[in-house]
Amino acid sequence: MRIYLSPPEVSEADIEAVVAAMRSGWIAPAGPALARFEEGLSVLCGRRYAVALSSGTAALHLALKSAGVCPGDLVLLPTMSFAAPAFAVRYCGAEPFWIDVDPENWQLDPSLLASAVDELQRQGRRIGAVVGVDLYGQCGDWAAVSRICAEAEIPFIEDAAEALGAGTCLEDGSIRPAGSWGQAGIFSFNGNKILTTSGGGMWVGDDEQLAAKVRKWASQSREPVVHYEHHELGYNYRMSNLLAALGCSQLESLRDRIERRKSIFKRYGAAFDGVDGFSLMPVPASSRPNYWLSCFTVDPKQSGVSANEVQMALHGAGIESRPLWKPLHRQTVFVGTGNRLTGVADQLFADGLCLPSGAGLTLSEQEEIIDRIRALL
Ligand SMILES: Cc1ncc(COP(=O)(O)O)c(C=O)c1O
Repeated sequence: MRIYLSPPEVSEADIEAVVAAMRSGWIAPAGPALARFEEGLSVLCGRRYAVALSSGTAALHLALKSAGVCPGDLVLLPTMSFAAPAFAVRYCGAEPFWIDVDPENWQLDPSLLASAVDELQRQGRRIGAVVGVDLYGQCGDWAAVSRICAEAEIPFIEDAAEALGAGTCLEDGSIRPAGSWGQAGIFSFNGNKILTTSGGGMWVGDDEQLAAKVRKWASQSREPVVHYEHHELGYNYRMSNLLAALGCSQLESLRDRIERRKSIFKRYGAAFDGVDGFSLMPVPASSRPNYWLSCFTVDPKQSGVSANEVQMALHGAGIESRPLWKPLHRQTVFVGTGNRLTGVADQLFADGLCLPSGAGLTLSEQEEIIDRIRALL
């Protein structure tokens, strides 16, 4: 491959920050960079507490566990997602229940959620949590989802793994950041995200006791005594100080990264504007995405080509592109799970494609991608 979908971008300053952390002697997991990275994230997303962890998946696991999700519970989440939130549901011994997405923004559909919650509760099923996923760097209608969850007394967890720096414009004109909704939010800093620590994640929330629990569980549930004392099950989920140093350095360029990804998204939009059958991911007026990936759908009946043909042609030219997330209700590992589906996620999987979107994508590289797609039409 010559052009990747979303490669990590590491600057000289990032490298120096990691070297400085190593030279400081803070090699073992805890250290000052860890505290700074947590502080940076809690400020960014307007949360009182942040706990840096080894991955977004670990953050989801502890968010669900601290929400009280138990074996036998159902957890409602969008079928259009990467599998990590659903795996975390299974780590808790609970079962996922899929909700389809809204074609207006590709995010969890609040009206389907409301009717599923109502029906499942009437059947006497216990719903341990609802997980909303900020798909492709854009928040869903979390105000509506929060109201549904509050009424039904179900904790809401926001999986903002893909949406660091995104937000929602509220009626008073203020921007509510991704990760600030619900009982807890989580982020991922794996290699393909807008900001990376190589691998890493973060739990964020406002409840002091929940934050303390997450911090303790993530550090092998060690009791605060000099010998190794454990009263409950622990996990080795803490982020290391070295990786947090990389995160702190990367955080400084977050706004610039978002602006560059936004320009890429806009250029794709302009290039395919008016092309029959090509539609960029819809961005509602109130949405402030971080433009993590530029995604579009192609209707083969109108355009004469399928998303798969575009993907194959780009692949042949050394350009990486990828279908949208395969709906989780279609994954073998989740066969037999309950759902409330409308077919939107299935259609998005059939017609959707993510195009190269890395902040470092050059103008000439993007022109080449656009030209190769145009040549197919
Ligand atoms: C929506 C979503 N949730 C969770 C994760 C898991 O994060 P991690 O890879 O850091 O475990 C990812 C991506 O990797 C994701 O896209």
